[in-house]
Amino acid sequence: MIYITRETHFCAAHKLWNEKWSKEKNFEVFGPCANENWHGHNFDMRVTVKGKPDPKTGFVINFKDLKQLVNEEIIYKVDHKNLNIDVPFLEGKLTSCETLVVEFWNILAPKILKMTDGQVALHCIKLTETKNNYAEYYGE
Ligand code: NI
Repeated sequence: MIYITRETHFCAAHKLWNEKWSKEKNFEVFGPCANENWHGHNFDMRVTVKGKPDPKTGFVINFKDLKQLVNEEIIYKVDHKNLNIDVPFLEGKLTSCETLVVEFWNILAPKILKMTDGQVALHCIKLTETKNNYAEYYGE
């Protein structure tokens, strides 16, 4: 089994806010991330897939195809957007790093299987929000 990773980047604004809580409680839990007028991050995302190399190409997956899929399904929808209000698949959700990796997984995992006729599976999505903080999701 070989693991192949496509790394990509996007910039986006968001706000961490629980509508069921008071303003005080939101600031107590989320700190400056609850700032009413949003804040932004330069996100780094790593999408890792796993499979066996195809003897015809030597590739597990063509990087070109993986790049195109990740761009079309995720990057073009979130880059330079406000995650709380511009992205339909995040509507009504808390836009934490944890939420993002799960939502991205739910979009990409079936499409990767489909485009490779079940030969290649999504293995991990790693999303880095700041230099020191990141989330990883393996689908469970
Ligand atoms: Ni933030």
